[in-house]
Amino acid sequence: MKVTVVGAGGNVGSTVALTLAQRDIAKEIVLLDIERKDGDKTFYPSKGRALDQWQTSPILGFDSFTKGTTDYKDTAGSDVCVITAGVPRRPGMSRDDLLSINAGIVKGVTKELVKYSPDTVIIVVSNPLDVMTYVAYANSGLDSSRVIGMAGILDTARYRAFLAEELQVSPKDIQALLMGGHGDTMVPLPRYTTVAGIPVTQLISSEKLDAIVERTKTGGGELVGLMGTSAWYAPGAAAAQMVEAILLDQNRIFPCAAMLKGEYGVHDLYVGVPVKLGTGGVKEIVEVDLDADEKKLLDESVEHVKAVMSDFEKLNL
Ligand code: NAI
Ligand code: 2OP
Repeated sequence: MKVTVVGAGGNVGSTVALTLAQRDIAKEIVLLDIERKDGDKTFYPSKGRALDQWQTSPILGFDSFTKGTTDYKDTAGSDVCVITAGVPRRPGMSRDDLLSINAGIVKGVTKELVKYSPDTVIIVVSNPLDVMTYVAYANSGLDSSRVIGMAGILDTARYRAFLAEELQVSPKDIQALLMGGHGDTMVPLPRYTTVAGIPVTQLISSEKLDAIVERTKTGGGELVGLMGTSAWYAPGAAAAQMVEAILLDQNRIFPCAAMLKGEYGVHDLYVGVPVKLGTGGVKEIVEVDLDADEKKLLDESVEHVKAVMSDFEKLNL
């Protein structure tokens, strides 16, 4: 099995690659990025990251060979490609502010990837996530089941981590669902949150739960405020978990940005919903019952994604 990560000279891409290598499930991991010029010097971050990563293999104990490159020919025959290429948020920016720069980058990267891996599955990480996933889909010629966005695993991980800390339980025992776009309108669903099977609402006051839901919705911004750029450990680990589910045909149920064709009353839009992930990407979109309040919040989030889509369409890319 072969996996390519584009944008791998950067924070999220290099974390996807290292997390994946530590799972030791791919024969080869290709790290691709562009050259970086600094005065009269040229740097090759993907080659540097790959060499550094490969040199961890004797210590961390994995065989997945790591190759760094700037040439898409080296990505040929990739089973899964992860796109993290683009610019990240800086303080004061929303994910949507990245639209015009990242749309051009994701379009170009996707076209190159499918030239050499026409049957691949693409996982998009670049922001604004839901619309960038659409851009990859529209430029790939692939079935929408093979183009998926990473956001829900990250956002639920933040929600689960906050809950674990508050309840003083293992994060592993917290299961949760979160839907909608990857933005501050995302919809964590307490009614679908359990701790070892116990509804979370039986274990925490509604005030504390509401505060955790709100913190989750702005969890990305909290990290940008702390670091001056966006997060990478949890985003990278989340994308690697998607790659693993696909390579190993695990049929995991994860919240991911998937193309909706009528599910949840939404048409032709990428939005975060629970999906079954395995060989070939999305095997099924899982439709859960939402009460009136939950549906209203999801509809508001969908409207937000539609607004960013409309800004994207105005770019005429
Ligand atoms: P970064 O700046 O550390 O890395 C981005 C990399 O993309 C750089 O190495 C850059 O050289 C590369 N790049 C730019 N143009 C390229 C091109 N045409 N071809 C190949 N590579 C290219 O940024 P970071 O922190 O890794 O974030 C990457 C993206 O992921 C951002 O758009 C960020 O907003 C997004 N993100 C999304 C998350 C999600 O939940 N979906 C979570 C975290 C970040
Ligand atoms: C995050 O949620 C910025 O989308 C990125 O960390």
